[in-house]
Amino acid sequence: MQLTDFLGLVHPVLAVMCVFPLIGIVVNYAWATRQRRLQAKSGDKTKIPASSGIEHKRLGSWLTGATVGLILVALAYAISKNVITNQLWNKAPFQVIFILLMFPATIASLVFLYSVNTKLWRGVFATLTGAGLIILGFQDGVFRRDNEWYWSHYYIGIAAGILMIFSLAIVPEIYKDKSNRWRVIHTIVNCIALLLFLGQAMTGTRDLLEIPLSWQEPYIYKCDFVNRTCPIPQSQVTK
Ligand code: HEM
Ligand code: HEM
Repeated sequence: MQLTDFLGLVHPVLAVMCVFPLIGIVVNYAWATRQRRLQAKSGDKTKIPASSGIEHKRLGSWLTGATVGLILVALAYAISKNVITNQLWNKAPFQVIFILLMFPATIASLVFLYSVNTKLWRGVFATLTGAGLIILGFQDGVFRRDNEWYWSHYYIGIAAGILMIFSLAIVPEIYKDKSNRWRVIHTIVNCIALLLFLGQAMTGTRDLLEIPLSWQEPYIYKCDFVNRTCPIPQSQVTK
């Protein structure tokens, strides 16, 4: 396998080995947190440990970082492949500098989001982190599948990332709000996020199946993807 194909596997491997197991643990604690709260509310004695809420929050914070990191790895691969193939630094050096600055800027916004407390700054850094992902996502080289956006690994992935950023940004609201409104919002939003993650597992494996190895590219990209036909090799035409 050539280096470029191997590097293309870094993102799927990280998703399978780190992000999806983390989702499982976070959801397990989420269920325990909810059951414990409902049991306590109805006056029942609960066997669920009180630490489940804190553990859910701790690992949920990791999940936000892991999802944003995973998206940045995928985007870095797609964008750098395009920059290198088209020698973009000769044609548009400022665009290359802009892209190079956007990655650390997005990471810095997320780091600040973890550390700020006021509503305003959480809103600002959550918006900046999400904007960073979207701006990078619109660079050339990223396969967005615009004509089938509802089934696109890119759009579903960015949506899941934004919901994770939102979840991290509203943590203090969940704890402050005695009416549980933010808790309910959080639960609904993350049930949707869970469906999006499921979509990522399906669209990601589909994309892996569709992407040719780099030595196959010149042959595969001669195919007509609309009519689903490929040119017959010369050796078979003369037979
Ligand atoms: C797949 C992702 C997630 C799902 C399905 C999920 C679901 C839930 C559920 C069901 C609850 C309990 C609500 C209740 O008490 O009725 C909860 C609580 C909470 N979640 Fe999440 N969540 C997810 C991700 C996150 C993330 C990324 C964060 C960010 C740090 C987070 C932070 C919290 C916090 C702070 C609470 C309150 C915990 C407590 O009561 O001590 N969650 N979540
Ligand atoms: C948490 C789950 C995941 C998220 C948020 C996510 C997000 C993304 C994003 C934003 C891209 C860049 C778009 C692009 O260049 O096409 C991407 C690319 C890619 N992802 Fe994922 N991904 C996830 C899981 C997976 C899984 C489980 C696999 C496969 C096992 C996978 C395989 C791929 C592949 C092959 C690409 C590049 C191919 C393409 O252009 O579509 N991803 N991912």
